Amino acid sequence: EERQETKPFRQRLLVVANRLPVSAVRKGEDAWSLEMSAGGLVSALLGVKEFEAKWIGWAGVNVPDEIGQKALTKALAEKRCIPVFLDEEIVHQYYNGYCNNILWPLFHYLGLPQEDRLATTRSFQSQFEAYEKANQMFADVVNRHYEEGDVVWCHDYHLMFLPKCLKTHNKKMKVGWFLHTPFPSSEIHRTLPSRSELLHSVLAADLVGFHTYDYARHFVSACTRILGLEGTPYGVEYQGKLTRVAAFPIGIDSERFIRALDLPPVQDHIKELQERFKGRKVMLGVDRLDMIKGIPQKILAFEKFLEENAYWRDKVVLLQIAVPTRTDVPEYQKLTSQVHEIVGRINGRFGTLTAVPIHHLDRSLDFHALCALYAVTDVALVTSLRDGMNLVSYEFVACQEKKKGVLILSEFAGAAQSLGAGAILVNPWNITEVAAAIARALNMPSAEREKRHKHNFNHVISHTAQEWAGTFVSELNDTVIEAQLRTRQ
Ligand code: G6P
Repeated sequence: EERQETKPFRQRLLVVANRLPVSAVRKGEDAWSLEMSAGGLVSALLGVKEFEAKWIGWAGVNVPDEIGQKALTKALAEKRCIPVFLDEEIVHQYYNGYCNNILWPLFHYLGLPQEDRLATTRSFQSQFEAYEKANQMFADVVNRHYEEGDVVWCHDYHLMFLPKCLKTHNKKMKVGWFLHTPFPSSEIHRTLPSRSELLHSVLAADLVGFHTYDYARHFVSACTRILGLEGTPYGVEYQGKLTRVAAFPIGIDSERFIRALDLPPVQDHIKELQERFKGRKVMLGVDRLDMIKGIPQKILAFEKFLEENAYWRDKVVLLQIAVPTRTDVPEYQKLTSQVHEIVGRINGRFGTLTAVPIHHLDRSLDFHALCALYAVTDVALVTSLRDGMNLVSYEFVACQEKKKGVLILSEFAGAAQSLGAGAILVNPWNITEVAAAIARALNMPSAEREKRHKHNFNHVISHTAQEWAGTFVSELNDTVIEAQLRTRQ
């Protein structure tokens, strides 16, 4: 009841995520250069007009000294960002270890690291302790900046322990948690040694959000089966209240992509690419170089397609942009060399003196080059083995108003639930099926392409990142405390 009077004109929103949306480079003892990343998530979270948002997270750099920390904190404040400082050991155990070597593969159905299963099991406990400790460090920063009436929105698998830390400190704090990855079947989740601790902590939040209804359902099943709690269509009954659980599918800032296509530098890029690949159909993959993205499987499917379709060999090119990520984790290092080996073999096999079938890039592209690439693409290949949503598929669709190219999309990406009717859906593990989908996409009549594109385009422009953020926060605001929430009485 006390809450009703505290609705300021512009409510403060504290966004807490492992990573701040900046890249910070140290230029001297007390000097930093900052570059803000401009993705959909950033414009969604820092751009919601109704809220005054601040972003709390790790700046991705080790800053052991106080002078450096102070200077960075000051520089970040201008960008509405607040840093959490993590030392190297914590980063190693919490970020590389528990987050990216355990939770990430498990939530994507890849199990625990294959070759290191025993070593991982042994180091599990210390990594989990580092995870708890890191989450408490995030909580301490939130608590220092929290003012009554703020809403706190925690993001992703890095911060599953955060809702509990926050609520333990202040029961009245309005806390939401959103998962950007899949939440796996409860049978997978229950293999995790810390399965119950994580569930209990997430349930301390007022609102728990997922990209799809299936992920929400898996989470509720995990709570009922592993913790023996009561699930309802609205969420989970937990400690005398209802923790609301729901699906909030994310989107992109589609306008930003559509507008960019008319900019002179993008137009120049488009012309260059068209010239460069004249007479060939362009197929495109854009992924972080991550196991879940199914890059080796995709390239093998492309090889199979070339094998079976001699006609197309000199008339198609696959451009694969593989953005390096989490390069300190051994599994990711192995993946890089595996992909290089496959690409080299296929280019050796099907290349000519003047052309190769696959252009593989180990780096990201700037926004303008990326938009141009999307615009000239005939067929996009998004064949993740699992993916929370996958926004590359949305970005491609947003840039295809002229070309009306085909999207081949994994049925295991969250996006399959929204773009499934317009895309060709595939099982990425089935290389024969993906090869056949490539042939079908390249031969698709224009009337069918237009129809499919229209379906997807309408979805992408009407389900934006801004709308996603607005819906989550207003739903979080609407969750009421304790007794009022008892739906059954
Ligand atoms: C996924 C996760 C994000 C993460 C991003 C990049 O999309 O859901 O939380 O920020 O990957 O990974 P990184 O480990 O570099 O932050």
